[in-house]
Amino acid sequence: MIHHFEMVTSTQEVMKEQASLGARHLDAVLADEQSAGRGRMGREWVSESGNLFASVFLRDFSLPLTWIPHWVGVSIARALYRKGVDPLRLKLKWPNDLYLDRSAKVGGILCEKVDSGVVVGFGINLTSHPLFSDRETAAIDSVVGVELGPRELLESILRELSVEPTIETLRKEYEQFSVYRSGDSIAWTDPMSGTQGSGKVLSLGEHGELLVEVRESGLPVLRPLFSEEVRSLSSNQA
Ligand code: BTN
Repeated sequence: MIHHFEMVTSTQEVMKEQASLGARHLDAVLADEQSAGRGRMGREWVSESGNLFASVFLRDFSLPLTWIPHWVGVSIARALYRKGVDPLRLKLKWPNDLYLDRSAKVGGILCEKVDSGVVVGFGINLTSHPLFSDRETAAIDSVVGVELGPRELLESILRELSVEPTIETLRKEYEQFSVYRSGDSIAWTDPMSGTQGSGKVLSLGEHGELLVEVRESGLPVLRPLFSEEVRSLSSNQA
């Protein structure tokens, strides 16, 4: 069931409240606008009318929690593909971002564990996008020419989420949509400690982590990334 509001503080907060009152699997909260939209790492999520702001409650699933962001990302990418967005242009940037043409962010995903399940929120720029001096953003309508209503897209995402994939299927689909391919050179920053590093992408590990090969004293060492901020060291890529 979709609970549609004109304005909320954050769909995450409303969905969490509903989860505590016994919401069902795939119940969703949709808002035209948010006054206090939240991104990852405590950032603000600018929430102007026309874009999609929604949170979905996941309760009945078998996937390990660490694969939930990948499941939601692939479900959104599949829904956008079904609505006419070119799958070659739409990418998932590990771990939780949606990108167009590997360079401009069009959406983000926020997964939060609650007692009875997980509340997954996503914001997708459909008609407008905020401007930042340090990173590129885009909106689906203006760049791809596909006009989508927030509710129509949410319904399509919920249809995708109604079929839970196996880890193997999910891994393959995620890798098809991923900005980062095996062999790509990337750099990362740990947002908690500020530690930085660089290396070459190998694959997704068993928990959905990004496995990277780094050089230590000239020798290759395997390094798993779980929630680091990652960027490409190739030009024109996120
Ligand atoms: C990110 O990229 O930092 C994740 C952004 C998630 C934003 C969505 S909008 C709907 C839901 N409600 C919120 O307050 N945040 C998420």
